[in-house]
Amino acid sequence: MSGGGRSEGAGQAERGGGASRARGRERQSGSKGRMPLIAGNWKMHNNHLEALALVQKLAFALNRKDFAAVEVVVLPPFTALRSVQTLVAGDKLEIRYGAQDISDHDEGAYTGDVSGSMLAKLGCSYVLVGHSERRQYHGEDNAVVNAKVKAALRWGLVPILCVGETLEIRQAGHQISHCASQVEGGLRGVKAEQVAGLVIAYEPVWAIGTGEVATPKDAQEAITAIRERVSAVHGAEAAENMRILYGGSVKADNITAMMAQPAIDGALVGGASLDAGEFVRICRYRDLAVGA
Ligand code: PGA
Repeated sequence: MSGGGRSEGAGQAERGGGASRARGRERQSGSKGRMPLIAGNWKMHNNHLEALALVQKLAFALNRKDFAAVEVVVLPPFTALRSVQTLVAGDKLEIRYGAQDISDHDEGAYTGDVSGSMLAKLGCSYVLVGHSERRQYHGEDNAVVNAKVKAALRWGLVPILCVGETLEIRQAGHQISHCASQVEGGLRGVKAEQVAGLVIAYEPVWAIGTGEVATPKDAQEAITAIRERVSAVHGAEAAENMRILYGGSVKADNITAMMAQPAIDGALVGGASLDAGEFVRICRYRDLAVGA
């Protein structure tokens, strides 16, 4: 009972929520012509009460100036989304939120899965798709990732498509072709105007949770190559508008150098997003640049 006109129709009706707000913001500013995006991937951390406490701390620390300069997103576990929605809506917070995974089906007998319609109803703007931990522990290949990207788009959610090479692939010097093929596979059959609105996160697997961050030059090179591949397949306009983040051991002391790279539009932050103070410092990478 997946896909189908009824579900797609319902998906259309959900639009106008989080995702379209996100798209509106995206066009606003940024020195690169794209709104910088800092997203915190909480992974399997924080129950719903801890999630509320963390979002409250972020909301208290971040101000209008911050939100005018950077889009701030948190990606809590499914079980915390309803609480985060209530807090964000109740206090009219500018923080956006999303999920860490999505089913490629819209409904049906898929025990344990969560659909795009459920996430849209919870006011999610974003959803991670194809994170390396999903690829590694849940066997998600490019075909599944592609189906999940399409499911997100059906429900008006902005997919954050994660790609990146293992250490083995980098040592063999094949990181660019590997990432390009993950991007091509993940976006197969997606319309150019949809590609323009989505987000890619380049996350070298060897840099995730290891403290070993890619050099800004390497990240810039991979992200430029990804944008070039998107341009070749989906057109220059889509490639120019789409945001590409770096992820992998991002911290306050390395974000500024990353964001100084012309191709890098933001960061997907794992471990450091669990600490409110550190995450706020990352969101304020501009202040760090001018002297802290
Ligand atoms: P990390 O995780 O910042 O802890 O390396 C990044 C991610 O997996 O998205």
